[in-house]
Amino acid sequence: MTPHIANGELRALEITVRLNGRLILDALNLPPLGAGQMVALLGPNGSGKSTLLKSLAGLVPASFGALSLGASDLAPLRASARAGHIRYLPQSLPGDIHLTVTESLLVALRAGRALNTQHAFPIVKTALAELGISDLANRYLDELSGGQKQLVGLAQALSHEPQVLLLDEPLASLDLNHQHHVMQLLGRLTQERRLLTLIVLHDLNSVLQYCGQALLMRDGALLASGAPAKVITAESLAAMFGVRARIETCSLGRPYVLVDGLLPI
Ligand SMILES: Nc1ncnc2c1ncn2[C@@H]1O[C@H](COP(=O)(O)OP(=O)(O)OP(=O)(O)O)[C@@H](O)[C@H]1O
Ligand SMILES: [Mg+2]
Repeated sequence: MTPHIANGELRALEITVRLNGRLILDALNLPPLGAGQMVALLGPNGSGKSTLLKSLAGLVPASFGALSLGASDLAPLRASARAGHIRYLPQSLPGDIHLTVTESLLVALRAGRALNTQHAFPIVKTALAELGISDLANRYLDELSGGQKQLVGLAQALSHEPQVLLLDEPLASLDLNHQHHVMQLLGRLTQERRLLTLIVLHDLNSVLQYCGQALLMRDGALLASGAPAKVITAESLAAMFGVRARIETCSLGRPYVLVDGLLPI
């Protein structure tokens, strides 16, 4: 009997990536990740988070014991074919593209989804409005600030309406207002579109506030996975980051991470 595969569930087993002779991920197994979930990927610099996302998107050479989305086997698909299901927003965006924001989204959308301009234009307009950046529509990409570029990158990723969204530190350049706007928007779209959103974050309090699940990585391996409030503990933060931390309960009853300092080496 074939095992039951839930609709849209991502299964990725024995992910192995070797880059320039270095073993970065060694047969890493992800737990099954269901549609409609916002999953945080946490870990120190160099622990393999970007490499993991790129391997899922087909952007680095990787081998898999299994890679499937619902009933579809993704392992044999090249990056361009996988991009129909899985969209990857890189950690750093190219800064030298002399196209307007609208043009850049239209070009990407027409290439990715084979839409003509008439059909693509309303999708682009909606994506820009959802991110609150309609005023940037006619600005040139290479004239935007770092945070503005990051919002445009998010608009581009969302406009493809993928089943799986892989976001590599999408909050890194955003101010407080935009960080919360983006997390609330992602939470709503993840639910409404039954997306699986896998998101690399360094801000643990955003993870506790907005994510339903967290994956903890160190040295290319998965340390733990589960509900953020269960896996983000003083012990796991010590093991991952070498910090002395407390998880307190704030006046609204939510857990909150406070870091008191570094552990002695
Ligand atoms: N092309 C490459 N060749 C060799 N090693 C690489 C290559 N790309 C990445 N690495 C190494 O793989 C490891 C994981 O890198 P990765 O970029 O996945 O880390 P990360 O968890 O995303 O870190 P950060 O939080 O700094 O973005 C690092 O040790 C890095 O130096
Ligand atoms: Mg990274």
